[in-house]
Amino acid sequence: MKPYSPPYIPASEITPKDTFENRRAFLQKAGFGVAAGTIALLNHPVRAAETAVKSPIIQPVGAGKKIAQYKKTAFGAEEKLTSYEDVTTYNNFYEFGTDKSDPAKNAKLFKTQPWAVSIEGEVKKPKIISLEDIIKLAPLEERIYRMRCVEGWSMVIPWLGIPLAKLIQWAEPTGNAKFIEFITLNDKQQMPGQNLPVLDWPYVEGLRMDEAMHSLTMLAVGLYGEQLPNQNGAPLRLVVPWKYGFKGAKSIVKIRFTEKMPRTSWMKAGPREYGFYANVNPNVDHPRWTQSSEKRIGAGLFAGRIKTQMFNGYAEQVGQMYAGLDLQKNF
Ligand code: MTE
Repeated sequence: MKPYSPPYIPASEITPKDTFENRRAFLQKAGFGVAAGTIALLNHPVRAAETAVKSPIIQPVGAGKKIAQYKKTAFGAEEKLTSYEDVTTYNNFYEFGTDKSDPAKNAKLFKTQPWAVSIEGEVKKPKIISLEDIIKLAPLEERIYRMRCVEGWSMVIPWLGIPLAKLIQWAEPTGNAKFIEFITLNDKQQMPGQNLPVLDWPYVEGLRMDEAMHSLTMLAVGLYGEQLPNQNGAPLRLVVPWKYGFKGAKSIVKIRFTEKMPRTSWMKAGPREYGFYANVNPNVDHPRWTQSSEKRIGAGLFAGRIKTQMFNGYAEQVGQMYAGLDLQKNF
């Protein structure tokens, strides 16, 4: 594991300039001259090809590949949605760079077809399932979820997907399966950020079995009625609305059932800062900033911060799973 340099920035002032300066500082701390880091990114074939493409950074909603059939649900119907533009240009997907604007630019040529997921570990027998077969496991549905990033900002996103529970049932886990690992594609050729030691690649996240089986937990294949844009984790990503956003592993290629609690990429990077549970909790601050409030992206300059809710406001649905667990220790 390469020395850890915190790539996350304090939540209070998130502006493009700050983000840029933090990334410079990060690259320097990580032992890269800024120039060297930049050159490494520029030399990458994907990046080089991408700069040759003169199309606008992002297409407007309605211009992507539409998902023909899905059912609307009442989930989150009362929420004010974050704009498509913010959802698709303000991203964390370190495989494509650490600036918020990097993934939308650098993931344009990312190839997400064909795609299949390998099901491994504590299952009756390991198997591989194609994306096409995954979306046949249950009717696609739209759910509007509040999403809270550990950095202190939040969004409201209309996801399209299936309950993860449907895939778990199909996978036939053994009685030993207590946790699940979600593993992102490992491909330095396509993912320039994987050439930097930001995290221990590939990106690994995990859930306890009951969390994974919970009806709020989704495998998402789309947002805003369209297939997932690459920068949001195409073609398949995890969405767990009561946990900090880093739980939502993107571009998943492996799902591994385990007996032991997985060591996730963020736990390895900063064990005191990023716990396995990562439940949204306004009472447990991040060591370097408060978690009691958040900035809603797109709310406007004068909107001010809003109070963060326990389990991101989903306590009624999920609180019971943590009864008796010390949430200060198990952050
Ligand atoms: N998955 C991978 N593979 N790599 C990442 O860097 N970032 C996580 C999560 N999933 C990340 C990832 C973090 S920190 C957040 S907040 C969310 O993705 C952001 O998802 P969004 O960009 O779709 O809003």
